Amino acid sequence: MERRNFLKFLSASVALSIFEQTMSKNKLIKNCRQKLYNIDFKGILPSTEDAVVLSEELDYHIIASWKDAISSKDYFGFNNDFLCFFPSNKNGTEGLLWVNHEYIDRFFLHDKTKENITLKEVDQEIYNVGGSIIKIKQDKKSKKWNLVKDDISNKRITAKTPIPFANNIKIKNTNIAIGTLGNCAGGKTPWNTLLTCEENYDANYGENIYNNNIPTFIESYLGWEKFYNHPTEHYGWVVEIDMQTGEVKKHTSMGRMAHECATTHLTKDGRCVVYTGDDANDECLYKFISDKPNSLDTGKLYVADLENNKWILLDIDADERLKNTFKDNIELLIRTRDAAKIVGATPLDRPEDIEIHPYTKDIYISLTNNIPNGNYHGSILKIKETNHDFTSLTFEHEYFLTGGNETGFACPDNLAFDKKGNLWFTSDISGSKIGKTPYEKFKNNSLFYVPIDGKNKGKVIQIASAPNNAEFTGPWFSEDDETLFLSVQHPGEFSKDNKNLISHWPDGGSSVPKSSVIAIQLK
Ligand code: FEO
Ligand code: CA
Ligand code: CA
Repeated sequence: MERRNFLKFLSASVALSIFEQTMSKNKLIKNCRQKLYNIDFKGILPSTEDAVVLSEELDYHIIASWKDAISSKDYFGFNNDFLCFFPSNKNGTEGLLWVNHEYIDRFFLHDKTKENITLKEVDQEIYNVGGSIIKIKQDKKSKKWNLVKDDISNKRITAKTPIPFANNIKIKNTNIAIGTLGNCAGGKTPWNTLLTCEENYDANYGENIYNNNIPTFIESYLGWEKFYNHPTEHYGWVVEIDMQTGEVKKHTSMGRMAHECATTHLTKDGRCVVYTGDDANDECLYKFISDKPNSLDTGKLYVADLENNKWILLDIDADERLKNTFKDNIELLIRTRDAAKIVGATPLDRPEDIEIHPYTKDIYISLTNNIPNGNYHGSILKIKETNHDFTSLTFEHEYFLTGGNETGFACPDNLAFDKKGNLWFTSDISGSKIGKTPYEKFKNNSLFYVPIDGKNKGKVIQIASAPNNAEFTGPWFSEDDETLFLSVQHPGEFSKDNKNLISHWPDGGSSVPKSSVIAIQLK
């Protein structure tokens, strides 16, 4: 059933024919030997090995690990997640890599838990999240990618970097937020800037929860608000960064939530559409359409109603119920979740990453799981905008793949399409649940591949297994599709203490585990 669905939904023959036309025959034959998209991977079985285990055709090397110096004053942050490569030469063999640093683990930073945390330690935590900009370069002979230490472009953006709100918007009396955090996934704009998304910000500066329009402040897990008076309303936004100039701004236009990602598409008239999901149980899927070309500063925000296959506008002038609840559209955007519920948007099973198929233009959304609702394995949803018009306010939707024993995966998270249209996706079974019911058979988190042709056409093939407790995140292909850049995040996260580490990846022995960015290539 799943396989039939895959072929039907992907319109495989159409996609392939466009792919073949795009890559001229000669070019295909000459260049395809090292392309990741042309391999019938043998695949692997689920593993509990504390290693990056790969299908036999593949190899990997490390580009950067936590605490690696990137310049004389800065080092690589904690828990690397979303990756986005910006080539700086014609062949794409060198360029700038953006890396999200999503959150910290106090145990590894200070060898202590919540108690008796000091200002100095909180400052260290603040430094370890945000993102890194690093110059990377491919060695001509070995084809390996290296971090170019001390390159003038190498820098950190942290939870201390001042970031103005776009359009000079003021929130809590200021138009400048301090820092970015919870940086989970993101996207690249058609004008070649970077989008990084603030996901679980409530862990850092808490959250105001509204009941009958009256807020109650819920303290954060990390308690940063005890040290710094930064309003929680300054976080939970999409941040745009110009990789060349370092200019950075926070957009309120795409709403405030546990933003997983921001996946863009250029419309025929030059505007930008952005899809973004709110990764929490029973939260929603959003679409933003910009007003102007080359700018996300202003536009309209919609939320998905899957019952009626409609995008519902979130604007106080469009709905009396919204007008009666929020004093203005800024307040609505700060409380996007509340607005979505008021208009009857569809609650979903934790929307994670979103990708647009390069040829069919269908939109794929990972719904990772919803354990309180009894959905342990998650699914991948597919949306087809009416007439493939990205500004359409109606769509069709279908479930493309469902996790479980039959398909061999659980908890889909990050997605990536290669240039041929093969789907690559990672899984994120929580470290606390790996190996436990009902996840025993999936073992460690994994990277999967669904080929568009070849002998395994339409099947879900596991091609990599992550170290203990780790999750693969941020898959991003090099320009030539010969390298898959991938984050290995939070190995050993559930270790009890330094003497009982669950992972020693990547250095082995008795070493402390370190999140790292790796490059996967054919042998
Ligand atoms: Fe940071 Fe929703 O994963
Ligand atoms: Ca994720
Ligand atoms: Ca996840």
